[in-house]
Amino acid sequence: MELKTIKKIGVLTSGGDAPGMNAAIRAAVRAGFYYNLDMYGIYRGYEGMIQNDIKKLDSRNITHVLERGGTFLKSARSEEFRTPEGRKKAYTNLKAHGIDALIVIGGDGSLTGAHLFYQEYGIPAIGLPGTIDNDLSGTDSTIGFDTACNTAIEAIDKIRDTATSHDRLFFVEVMGRDAGFIAVNAGIGSAAAAILIPENKTPIESLIEKLKSRTKAMKTSNIVIVAEGGKSGSAQEIADKVKKFLPYYDIKVTILGHLQRGGAPTSFDRLLASKLGVAAVEGLMQGKYDVMAGLINHKVVFTPIVKAIVDDKKVDEDDLRVANILST
Ligand code: F6P
Repeated sequence: MELKTIKKIGVLTSGGDAPGMNAAIRAAVRAGFYYNLDMYGIYRGYEGMIQNDIKKLDSRNITHVLERGGTFLKSARSEEFRTPEGRKKAYTNLKAHGIDALIVIGGDGSLTGAHLFYQEYGIPAIGLPGTIDNDLSGTDSTIGFDTACNTAIEAIDKIRDTATSHDRLFFVEVMGRDAGFIAVNAGIGSAAAAILIPENKTPIESLIEKLKSRTKAMKTSNIVIVAEGGKSGSAQEIADKVKKFLPYYDIKVTILGHLQRGGAPTSFDRLLASKLGVAAVEGLMQGKYDVMAGLINHKVVFTPIVKAIVDDKKVDEDDLRVANILST
């Protein structure tokens, strides 16, 4: 592959925001300055690329952002970038600024965009896994996942207090789109009675049996974690079904929702984002294009974007086994 001389790098965040995105932008920009590159912020993801919302960054832009949730570059899900016309507009704007490489921080949709753009226009791009869902291969953890799990656990601990006081059964719905990573981590970390994830269909009968056996074991509170996007239905739907079988239970439903996307990143996410931000700049300089930088066993690894998106990252079977043992 031809090694291009890179002088100007554009950075963008796209898709659902995730805690640690700011830390990743800051690390990439700092690394760029270290290597005497010009760094550009592309605002509102691909939408800003199409609308030419692009500004040269200086060190003031990245002061005191490491510790903040969200993304100061803002984020969007761009429909127009999915069209060839949209991508052409975006390319024209990049060229007008002389930007010759991209760092795209986001989830699978955002990385797909970077891949397509590289295929069509040859703009070298490195993706960074920025999503609370943890549903990308090529990295043990995505930026924001650890913070989201901590946020969910903190919230569930609070729900536990009131659940215990009132002997109530709570169904708590967590995010994750089609993946159960947040549910499994938050469920184990908060001593959930059961964890329902999209990857597995849990028959309602087995959930009922589990709840009955916990009643026999004199458990004073029960919290069932339900991942959104599950085959058994939403937390509310499952709660309604359970109520029919166990009418004597006082049941409540809480949807944690976007709470899980905000907040200051944990130390883990700060470190992950910082390492990957630097790796992205160095990777581009070394001619690593159309790849995602991730961390596997604490080491930076570059995986072709297509592989990171397409390979199905599985919830660890051993985590499910542990969760089951601990909830009986
Ligand atoms: O991908 C991150 C995520 O928070 C998912 O967990 C969730 O399904 C989705 O984004 C929500 O998207 P939006 O903020 O557009 O409603």
